[in-house]
Amino acid sequence: MSIWQKHAIFEKNSIILSLGIVVVIAIGGLVEIAPLFYLKNTIEKVSGMRAYTPLELAGRNIYVREGCYNCHSQMVRPLRDEVERYGHYSLAAESMYDHPFQWGSKRTGPDLARVGGKYSDDWHRDHLNRPQAVVPGSVMPAYPWLARTDLDYAHIGDDMKVQALLGVPYSAEMIASAAADIKAQATPDDPGAADLAKRYPKVNARDFDTNPARITEADALIAYLQVIGTMVDFKLYDDKANVR
Ligand code: HEC
Repeated sequence: MSIWQKHAIFEKNSIILSLGIVVVIAIGGLVEIAPLFYLKNTIEKVSGMRAYTPLELAGRNIYVREGCYNCHSQMVRPLRDEVERYGHYSLAAESMYDHPFQWGSKRTGPDLARVGGKYSDDWHRDHLNRPQAVVPGSVMPAYPWLARTDLDYAHIGDDMKVQALLGVPYSAEMIASAAADIKAQATPDDPGAADLAKRYPKVNARDFDTNPARITEADALIAYLQVIGTMVDFKLYDDKANVR
């Protein structure tokens, strides 16, 4: 009986065939997955990453609430055309404090992983208010209520507690000062600004919606947009990679 005839055992018996399929697929799975158990960490260490400030976190919540991810991804793939258009490809570490992550799967609009610092706060305010005011022909919907609505941050401390459960390094002090930090980040010359900067290195603190009298949802969303993709210094990262 040649080896090919032995194969008839699989072809004639569906249970043995199913077992055979499971064994073959399991080998593929093991080859892919088993090595990961021997790595200490599948996310490479990158300096510069910090937790979102309470204002940025509130802005991120608005981003999720408004469904911005339906049209915008936040992941630059390591392909030449993407890197030339958007900038350095995304690192796993860049979304390690994103729960849930905002990689997205649809680009009706451009990728936003490198949008922080690309435009002024005024540009974002006008764009959110009426995209066609700054980008003629834009098909992005308008979000005029953001600049009109006071930010409700009564529960931001609870939000941070949940994020801490998921592994974001929010200390008890950071959670206790959430409301003060929101005020300090969105109000120019606030006395809390120094404490805020101690807790969140390199934080942008200013009046994001150009309405100093109020802290609005636009303040929070623009603070978030302006920090996306700016935490890692890629000059340092790539230098280190080259030395290795
Ligand atoms: C229906 C799809 C759609 C939705 C939903 C949407 N956008 Fe857009 N967005 C676009 C398109 C298309 C563009 C490109 C034209 C433009 O700049 O307005 C764009 C552009 C942008 C840009 C400029 C990006 C760049 O690099 O030039 C930002 C920032 C942005 N959107 C933020 C948001 C935010 C924040 C939300 C949620 C509040 C949102 N978008 C929701 C479609 C969308």
